[in-house]
Amino acid sequence: MYCYRKVTDDLYWIGANDHRLELFENVHPIPRGVSYNSYVLLDEKTVLFDTVDWSACRQFLENLEAVLAGRDLDYMVINHMEPDHAASMQEVLIRYPNVKVISTEKAFLLMSQFGFSVGEREIVKEGDSKSFGKHNVVFVEAPMVHWPEAMVTFDTLNGVLFAADAFGSFGALDGRLFADEVNFDRDWLDDARRYYTNIVGKYGPHVQSLLKKAQTIDIKMICPLHGPVIRKDFGYFIDKYDKWSRYEPEEKGVLIAYASMYGNTEAAACLLATKLSEKGMNNIALHDVSNTHVSYLIADAFKYSNIVFASVTYNLGIYPVMHNFLMDMKALNLQKRTCAIIENGSWAVKSGSLIRRFLDEEMKEMTILDEQVTMASSLNDANMADMDALADRIIESMNL
Ligand code: FEO
Repeated sequence: MYCYRKVTDDLYWIGANDHRLELFENVHPIPRGVSYNSYVLLDEKTVLFDTVDWSACRQFLENLEAVLAGRDLDYMVINHMEPDHAASMQEVLIRYPNVKVISTEKAFLLMSQFGFSVGEREIVKEGDSKSFGKHNVVFVEAPMVHWPEAMVTFDTLNGVLFAADAFGSFGALDGRLFADEVNFDRDWLDDARRYYTNIVGKYGPHVQSLLKKAQTIDIKMICPLHGPVIRKDFGYFIDKYDKWSRYEPEEKGVLIAYASMYGNTEAAACLLATKLSEKGMNNIALHDVSNTHVSYLIADAFKYSNIVFASVTYNLGIYPVMHNFLMDMKALNLQKRTCAIIENGSWAVKSGSLIRRFLDEEMKEMTILDEQVTMASSLNDANMADMDALADRIIESMNL
């Protein structure tokens, strides 16, 4: 049975939610599910904007058939060829053999790589336009946001931007299509940040160039391929994506990520959090890297101004899970954070110097505080003064 929603008088959301998938891209946990958004425009011509993941294909095809209500499908615009959006396009081609596919040259190459048999096609590039009747759309290339073939499509009649993965979020819609139908800041922002930073975060400069292009058009609505449609409070959303893509922290606060084998490094992390809080800095996120999926660590690393790495030494190196977090931060291009180190070890304390070298040599624009706590197996009285000094220095670094 179909399940669709009107976006405007002649534009419909015909996507689907997935509550069964545990790991997005087989990597990132999605306890709140995810939506695959697809849209149909009913103008003099009928136009489909992107499809959905294979898991949602049946629901999507029923929605498409219901909205078309007997009309044929004239065009299928593919803004993004990643299979979570394009996997169902072959089924559309089979059911609507007269459809003409509109996309970028790179996307058509990917279609052939994925084994899709596209018949009629129209290759578009930056600035090309197309009329479907009353609606005229302009195609804007968005390379590496976050795949090379990506584009966005802007409808000049109603101001709708089909934004591909830009402005997307984890989380199933569950009936609420628009961001103003939910408490976005309370219930969605964390998932939007975790989606952006882990999926698109590496490509900040490319997002910046898309945001600059967006400033030149009069956007009334943003229709992303995941998560809620945005039609109000554009300043709030643009500010978030602008900060994330410039690698600027959203908040003055401290992520304390700790790696602890027997609880002693954990105790040090908790002591630092206590001292920070006592001294007035209580915007703190404390995570055990061993039981916190790295996608959450990454999201908080993008959110906060300061990161403290508290790590035990393991095989004369950095504890493997902490090392994985560091590698992921580097892969996602995180930069411009103020970092501090707590190190621990029972006979050869190495983790601090190795983390310091990694931050210094492998990452960009990381400030590493000189103040550091070095533990031998467990905290002792001498560490208390060092911990106080570290907490003071972290707060001082924020220029509060
Ligand atoms: Fe949601 Fe890049 O696919």
